Amino acid sequence: MRISVIGAGYVGLVTGACLAELGHHVLCTDNDKSKIDTLEAGKLPIFEPGLDSVVERNRQEGRLSFSADPRAAAEGDAIFICVGTPPLPTGDADLSAIDHVAQMIAVEAKSDKLVVEKSTVPAQTGQQLQRVLGIYGRRGGVRFRVASNPEFLREGTAIGDFLHPDRIVIGVDDEIAEKQLHEIYRPVLEQKFKCPVHDGACPPMKPPAWVVTTINSAELIKHASNSFLALKISYANMVSDLAEKLGANIEEVMHGVGLDPRIGPHFLRPGLGFGGFCLPKDVQAFVRLAERNGIDFAMLREAERINHQRITGFVEKLRHSLWVLKGKQIGILGLAFKANTDDIRFAPSIELIKKLQTEGVRLKAYDPQAMEKIGEQFPDLICASDAYQAARGADALLIVTEWEEFRNLDWKRIHKSMARPLVLDGRNLLSAQEMKSLGFEYHSVGRPDLAVSSSAGALA
Ligand code: UGA
Repeated sequence: MRISVIGAGYVGLVTGACLAELGHHVLCTDNDKSKIDTLEAGKLPIFEPGLDSVVERNRQEGRLSFSADPRAAAEGDAIFICVGTPPLPTGDADLSAIDHVAQMIAVEAKSDKLVVEKSTVPAQTGQQLQRVLGIYGRRGGVRFRVASNPEFLREGTAIGDFLHPDRIVIGVDDEIAEKQLHEIYRPVLEQKFKCPVHDGACPPMKPPAWVVTTINSAELIKHASNSFLALKISYANMVSDLAEKLGANIEEVMHGVGLDPRIGPHFLRPGLGFGGFCLPKDVQAFVRLAERNGIDFAMLREAERINHQRITGFVEKLRHSLWVLKGKQIGILGLAFKANTDDIRFAPSIELIKKLQTEGVRLKAYDPQAMEKIGEQFPDLICASDAYQAARGADALLIVTEWEEFRNLDWKRIHKSMARPLVLDGRNLLSAQEMKSLGFEYHSVGRPDLAVSSSAGALA
């Protein structure tokens, strides 16, 4: 079966590369020619651990190719739509790229097609897709089967998530579409392939659940999953605020809570809130979808409100320690929305930088991967070449992304180089005990502050 992937962003590239890794022949298209040129030059337009070698190997072995002409994708028997569905000012998902691609497929298709929605879309998009394919289809006798196959991969661990998923959700209208998708995913279902994540010697993995539903249900599963994850994070953030007031430790609390299998240990880490291109926009779109169907999803709106509040609270913590913000030199460690990615879309760092800039502080920022992208968004932001430079002469250092690299810094050296050894750890990356023993004034999230020496104490 010839497979095409339309859209070479995070989802499309990972999907295309991993399907090729499973042995399929895949054509990945994107109408952004510069992206395709980059890929053809053997480079990646994004940073995703392990993706470069999977792309390169499959390109060299002739299973993965690229084209800047999305019409070439219409040659595939199965076409995965992986275009962006960014938020409109109303919060609704912008489905114009999906509509455009559907029209193109309808016009160009010369044989039966399985059209697979991978992009995150509101429920009932599949019905519209089927309609558009029918209306714009030029050739009689060409049959379009629509399927929803939401992706659950996380940036930073996307290859492993694709090849070793917990579940594969397939929303279909007929058995043929299900059979075709089953064939495509067979190596994953049987966990039989040479695993690039575990360097070939893959430990025995539990096969994923094969979940077959209607198209509407599959679409709903995706939005309901991401929104539930967002709820969990906002809940953890509220409990962490309370833990801080009560002198409890959020890590102990959430460990105890998460041991209940009905709750589970994941997504209970407090911090600066959820960011990235998925959770924030999917929650918004889900609220809007509910609203348009007469349902007020107030608990999700509250989760969003709590999320927005995280940065305001963090800046207030900084003000509490520094008293006056204006004119202070602040180092920022971490700009990506989470570790192991260069993605800064809806990253907490963006809101933080904007707020601190309006307060008149002098910023110096560093991230191991996201420097280029932050430079495009904030051309005037002073960037440091490493964490030590960001800290030098600073009145405070803010940990905004949980990069492992920051945990392993020479904190003694940083202590010496700062104007005032104050660290606000928005990710609970470091040990309060160790930071205290090094003489830092150190504040984290939902964990008790250890007493600080008088010279480093809060001014407020
Ligand atoms: C998320 C979902 O986890 C994936 O399952 C889904 O496929 C993807 O969206 C998508 O829809 O494409 P991702 O955006 O890559 O994946 O990132 P997550 O690992 O979910 O993290 C999202 C945000 O939540 C990050 O800002 C992270 O720092 C934050 N987070 C996560 C917390 O603040 N606390 C936690 O305990 C976990």
